[in-house]
Amino acid sequence: MLDLATVRACFPALSTTTADGAPVVHADAPGGTQVPQQVIAAMAGYLEAGNANAHGHFARSRQTDALCAQVRDQVAAFVEGTPDGVVFGPNMTTLTYHFADALSRTFDAGDRIVCTRLDHDANVSPWLHLARRTGAEIDWVDLDPGTGTLDLDTLRVGDALDFWRVIDVRRPTARRPGLLRLLAEMRLPGRAWLEFRVVAVEGGSELHQRALFAPRGLLGRLYWWVLVPFHGMIFPTMATTLARRAEQLATSSGAPTAPPAAPGDDPAAADPDQRRARRAG
Ligand SMILES: Cc1ncc(COP(=O)(O)O)c(C=O)c1O
Repeated sequence: MLDLATVRACFPALSTTTADGAPVVHADAPGGTQVPQQVIAAMAGYLEAGNANAHGHFARSRQTDALCAQVRDQVAAFVEGTPDGVVFGPNMTTLTYHFADALSRTFDAGDRIVCTRLDHDANVSPWLHLARRTGAEIDWVDLDPGTGTLDLDTLRVGDALDFWRVIDVRRPTARRPGLLRLLAEMRLPGRAWLEFRVVAVEGGSELHQRALFAPRGLLGRLYWWVLVPFHGMIFPTMATTLARRAEQLATSSGAPTAPPAAPGDDPAAADPDQRRARRAG
């Protein structure tokens, strides 16, 4: 059982009083973290014996390196991590800004960064800042308000979906359609992409599906043309199944639905690689 009196006694800040003698309450939040006497003594002890830059070729510098290595080992053992994963700095926010800044040199416009709605702002602002500077885009993992946990069903760039890899995913907004773009990872004589867009239309939404193939050599072209009749069956069925499932989900969540349309009732269906299914959403 945790002995609260003993633990409280380790923190001198908890015994401070205001000018008129009232005890101070440190509502420990983003305002700062109180430090126990052992840490205060260790920091004061180091400074009293003289401090030095790390990585120098003189006694106090070597002692500083040894102390940092020892503390890294101890922190790693405490958090069950590895010593080279322990970084010292002014605070977590500043360190994360530095980390994002160092990474920014490797980011380009269109690169994607995953942030969650559950993270403290200290692990969000540095990435938003990086995205603004580099043109990278943010993928949000949502919070499930029912459970207070992350919605792990949210698809993210890099996720595997059967034999496909998610290379772009965006929720629909008032200004642009929802998008899911997949890259085929099965062995093919070329590169294949599958793309779904959800476009808001009056009274519901449309699902647009597009399959793209960049053939490699003659074999790639042969493969594509041999499969055209099969694709003519597979893709409309896939679009209809997806739209039906979306409709079921919308119905079970109480959202309004519109009657399903048969696949191929759209001019886009004339193109064997592009289908649309009109569904409510
Ligand atoms: C959960 C959480 N993460 C990160 C931070 C930021 O830490 P720092 O003050 O070291 O920048 C805080 C600050 O209170 C926090 O509560």
